[in-house]
Amino acid sequence: MLQKGKHFIMATTGINTYRRLWHFYLKSVRKRHCALKFALKEKLDQIGRTDLVEAIDEYEREREVVVQKENSKSSALEGPFFGREDLLQSVIGVLDEEQSYIHVICISGMPGAGKTRLAYEACHRLLRLHQLISVNLREITTVEAAFFAILHRLNVECKTYEPEVLFSLVKNFRPSKAAGAILLLDSADYLLDPGTRDKPNINSEPFIDLIRQAINLMNSQLKIVITSRTVTCFSLEGDNEMNLEDGVAMMKHHARNTDIDKDTCEGLVRFCGKIPLAIRVLGSRFQDGTIKPRIC
Ligand SMILES: Nc1ncnc2c1ncn2[C@@H]1O[C@H](COP(=O)(O)OP(=O)(O)OP(=O)(O)O)[C@@H](O)[C@H]1O
Ligand SMILES: [Mg+2]
Repeated sequence: MLQKGKHFIMATTGINTYRRLWHFYLKSVRKRHCALKFALKEKLDQIGRTDLVEAIDEYEREREVVVQKENSKSSALEGPFFGREDLLQSVIGVLDEEQSYIHVICISGMPGAGKTRLAYEACHRLLRLHQLISVNLREITTVEAAFFAILHRLNVECKTYEPEVLFSLVKNFRPSKAAGAILLLDSADYLLDPGTRDKPNINSEPFIDLIRQAINLMNSQLKIVITSRTVTCFSLEGDNEMNLEDGVAMMKHHARNTDIDKDTCEGLVRFCGKIPLAIRVLGSRFQDGTIKPRIC
């Protein structure tokens, strides 16, 4: 299910000084600008205001706890993540790798196979040091619309379709977090679909071209993750299915207190083709009592 590849697949003294430094500090927190933060602490240390240094450290610790809570909250919105550890580690490995060019990973697979979940899970595990910018391309059918959607998420206004604007933005993009940024282009289903011989998709080539040009730009701070139902030629093929054990754990989780014996549960997971979406839907139906767990 995972596709990866270079070519396709991101002092002084005085109260006013304190104020100014404090103002800088707050600004630096917002911008995650570590250098400024350390400079401020050093200055405060030099002038003997260890109480303020401690206050900053305290603030940092509290902030860390809040950020971690926030991160785990959003990743847990869809419930716990099951299995896929190898795949997850390879995605995380690529995203965390130092590269001089913009690296692109494409996760492809059938509907409900867990592409989006896998991508978000990988990003969430890196969120402490990486900035995540996600763009949902599900309803996007033209390269122009994709261009505007990406620019919109990057808070850049552009009224006309000019790929050069995107290239320059991508090339010069400086993330707000130390380790870099991940641009997640989710559900590029239609845009990567070549269509049929009778009815080719005239939008897929321009989109692939746009991505190709973007990834040849040098920016070690940016990685791009694309999820798509369409398997592209840049693929490193994997598996759509979960392994049986993880599928059973997922089914039991979604079925909550429903009593399902091991054999029945395994049979039901196989019946679902070991596809996460099917397992989730069926498990939830057991939970609300709509249907009873039984193999015919
Ligand atoms: N490894 C997993 N652990 C727990 N839940 C999962 C896992 N993989 C997928 N799911 C759940 O299964 C459902 C379908 O997954 P997801 O939306 O990621 O599929 P998809 O491949 O992106 O589908 P589509 O092609 O429609 O975009 C979601 O509710 C998701 O939370
Ligand atoms: Mg998806």
